Amino acid sequence: MNVSTPPFDMAFAQDELQRRGLHAKLHWVAEVDSTNRWAIDQAEQGEPAFTWFVADRQTQGRGRLGRAWLSPPGRNLYASVILRPSLASTEAPTVGLAMALAAVRALKACGANPQIKWPNDLQVAGKKVAGILCEARFEPAAAPQSIACIVAGFGINVAMKPGEFPPELSSTATSLHAVGVATNREQVFAELASAVEAVMEQLAAVGFISLCDEWNAASALTGRFIEVLFGNESRQGTVLGIDRSGRLLLLTSSGLEPIVAGDVSVKK
Ligand code: BTN
Repeated sequence: MNVSTPPFDMAFAQDELQRRGLHAKLHWVAEVDSTNRWAIDQAEQGEPAFTWFVADRQTQGRGRLGRAWLSPPGRNLYASVILRPSLASTEAPTVGLAMALAAVRALKACGANPQIKWPNDLQVAGKKVAGILCEARFEPAAAPQSIACIVAGFGINVAMKPGEFPPELSSTATSLHAVGVATNREQVFAELASAVEAVMEQLAAVGFISLCDEWNAASALTGRFIEVLFGNESRQGTVLGIDRSGRLLLLTSSGLEPIVAGDVSVKK
């Protein structure tokens, strides 16, 4: 397979969506501030589920916890999708975990062997190859509060060369090419679009419980001693896995603690 060079091959991507019989609709631009911002705007104007927004380059790529996402042109996939799950707002975190699993399936289909660092970072050989940012909007009038839409934004390092990462990322970030996976952005996109639809169908039909074992099998953290930061608090402990609600099960010195959200660093 050829290594991708700009511009993104829209004809190939569109053909793949059609060949796979997906609902996905694809919008592409050369440059945008953030594909998540773009997708949220469009979702609020009524665009349907599985509409994708892809850019060659982002000028204000957003990461989790208010961080920036490095988004140079011609190398990586920056893709956001509108999801409209019929779920209570309390179940929104399971959608983020389901998206991590979709990305695992997609990267496996491209020949990689990724693991998930809870909640939804993807690593290969211990380095981050992809990050996912889910942003939700809720139906204010519904009781209990329900999800109006979730935009899931995927940043997947496809063809970055090791020397192209800035110094602060060079020891922690990698790309599919850097780990020897000869794929391209269009192929990764097509696998991702397939996997997102499959995972969302499973989530709707059976619930997160049906994804839990596969998720735990892909977890990079199980058995590791970690620190998790949430708000002004932190906990340290050994990870036992995630439970059926997607909470991280941490065995701390004071017992078992389920963690709903947070930022993890591995200690041992
Ligand atoms: C993380 O911090 O790990 C999440 C990074 C998510 C980055 C992607 S790139 C496409 C989409 N648009 C954004 O602005 N962010 C997400």
